[in-house]
Amino acid sequence: MNILSPSILAADFSRLGKQIKEAEHAGARYLHIDVMDGVFVPDISFGMPVILSIRKCSDIFFDVHLMIHKPERFVKEFADCGADLINFHLEATEDVTGTIQRIRFLGKKVGITISPETPAKAVEPYLKLVDMVLVMTVKPGFGGQKLLPECLGKVREVRSMVLEKGLRTDIEVDGGIRPDNVELALEAGANIIVSGSAVFQNRVSENVKSFMNILGQDKYKR
Ligand code: DX5
Ligand code: ZN
Repeated sequence: MNILSPSILAADFSRLGKQIKEAEHAGARYLHIDVMDGVFVPDISFGMPVILSIRKCSDIFFDVHLMIHKPERFVKEFADCGADLINFHLEATEDVTGTIQRIRFLGKKVGITISPETPAKAVEPYLKLVDMVLVMTVKPGFGGQKLLPECLGKVREVRSMVLEKGLRTDIEVDGGIRPDNVELALEAGANIIVSGSAVFQNRVSENVKSFMNILGQDKYKR
């Protein structure tokens, strides 16, 4: 099933709870939560207290995207504050397998993420161990950038590896995705779609519905 995961990085934080509810009622099944540490990426976003407080107002699936150096240091804290899935970058740790195991031990789903400069084949050794591969379609660190079309080729490569191995791994895309280019990502093989600015700018429920009309089309069913 194709799922929309709105990124709250682009939300109006003074009305965050209300905007999350609006996205959920319009059909979003996941919520994408971008955590930035000012080290792995240049910017700082937010951390555990914000996640804990929105956990109290929504049961939506929390898809947490850690853009932090050595994520293994903090996976327990993110699990405790309400993450359902924890995504971390292959580029951010020397212990990928250990980090995957740690997240599993905490009873959470696991995602591995690759930045634009990392080749698709880097995920292959871990495919059987994870629930999701997140292929970044912009350089991580800022919302509102333009999609890098060359990253879609990696989505295709990861989808072929998943099919070849007979797995059901989800493939997520993140960065610069809008209703007018989301079909390129779906055609390439993505089934979890992150969008920040194209969801939270202007009217949230209308934006979510525009995405859902495309995501629900029969030709994109997997
Ligand atoms: C970028 C973040 C994205 C970002 C997406 O580092 O990982 O999740 O918020 O925002 P848009 O859709 O505006 O590119
Ligand atoms: Zn993200």
